[in-house]
Amino acid sequence: MRLTTEEQAMLRGEAGPAIRRAMEIVVALGQIYDADELVAVSHAQVAGVSYKNLGQAGLEFLQQWAAEGARVRVPTTLNPAGMDLAQWRELGVSAEFAEQQGRVIDAYLAMGIEPTLTCAPYEVGHRPRRNEHLAWSESSAVSFANSLLGARTNREGGPSALAAAITGRTPRYGLHLDEARRATHLVEVRCSLEDAADFGALGYLVGRRVRNGVPYFRLLGHTPDLSLGPGSAGEELLRALGAALAASGAVALYHVEGVTPEAGEPDILPAAAERVTFTRLDEGYAALNAPVEDIDLVTIGCPHASLAQIAEIARQVAGATLRAALWVTTARAIRDQAAALGYVAAIEAAGGRVVADTCMVVAPVEELGIHALATNSAKAAFYAPSHGGVSARFGSLEQCLAAARTGRWAT
Ligand code: F3S
Repeated sequence: MRLTTEEQAMLRGEAGPAIRRAMEIVVALGQIYDADELVAVSHAQVAGVSYKNLGQAGLEFLQQWAAEGARVRVPTTLNPAGMDLAQWRELGVSAEFAEQQGRVIDAYLAMGIEPTLTCAPYEVGHRPRRNEHLAWSESSAVSFANSLLGARTNREGGPSALAAAITGRTPRYGLHLDEARRATHLVEVRCSLEDAADFGALGYLVGRRVRNGVPYFRLLGHTPDLSLGPGSAGEELLRALGAALAASGAVALYHVEGVTPEAGEPDILPAAAERVTFTRLDEGYAALNAPVEDIDLVTIGCPHASLAQIAEIARQVAGATLRAALWVTTARAIRDQAAALGYVAAIEAAGGRVVADTCMVVAPVEELGIHALATNSAKAAFYAPSHGGVSARFGSLEQCLAAARTGRWAT
């Protein structure tokens, strides 16, 4: 692999031990994937923030790297933590967990990372442009950046994204290259798709089928308007699709004919792409629904909710008295905007909460006494059993909010 003079110096430790350690990770990754060279990244997004997932060993690794002088060279943001930094007590998080979680964030702050604590950095001012090279690690954000914005990032691990942030480089392989962005599967969808849950169910089914391929969707049934742009309804629906594709499979890029920016590129759909047809979604809904009736928690906002989604939830719960807990999870900056517009007060008046900085998949749900949840996110329903031993119900936003009102899932 070719390294520039500056990169070679970093690798020899001439810029200090922290940068040498980071460059060793970047170069090792490049060698594994047979990259010819490194590419400069404009932004990094680091997962591996919740103390629940990191544990003591992960915390000490970060503290040691920070103490060696690790500092990021490019704007870098953080994935959700294990708790809402402001309301953790009210949510039932223990003081012990909160203390360790605070240490994790302190280590990242010492490195110069912006503590956005969101899986949707594109909602809080970090919206990359087409062909921009990134090192992002949250799988739903990777899917969003590649597919909806035409930016270029592999699905990084937490340490490799952090190493890219510290060196400003990532190996040029995989989705940084044109050839890996071509479709491996032509997915013809012959049923209608009405809402985010339908897009999530489809994503679950296709991810399971194509694994780490690049699906090219031809949507032949009825769909809502999928026009893209910040805050558009189309973007919300495709976020649900991408998050599910990345959860049940390892899809980091997909194309939607007539919608996503690279779908019209010449050669994007090679003749050799495998053709797959889906005519129904019920198998996806069945796989993501456990047979539980009593619901402890309804959770909306996976990926983290946009302002428009919070406004819609506030409208739907206005005047209600909720029997199950309701968490609408979002970025702190979006919560602040929602509070200023009265949406947080409307949701709290019904008995719900707008929870920032975290989500139920990375929070220590075992500590919180939650056994059954309802969600409109296929990704959350997919991970709930394995990440917290929680049974999940999966359906539309309306079904979820009905469950919040009654405490039961209506079948
Ligand atoms: Fe985000 Fe948590 Fe879902 S990190 S994508 S809300 S699992």
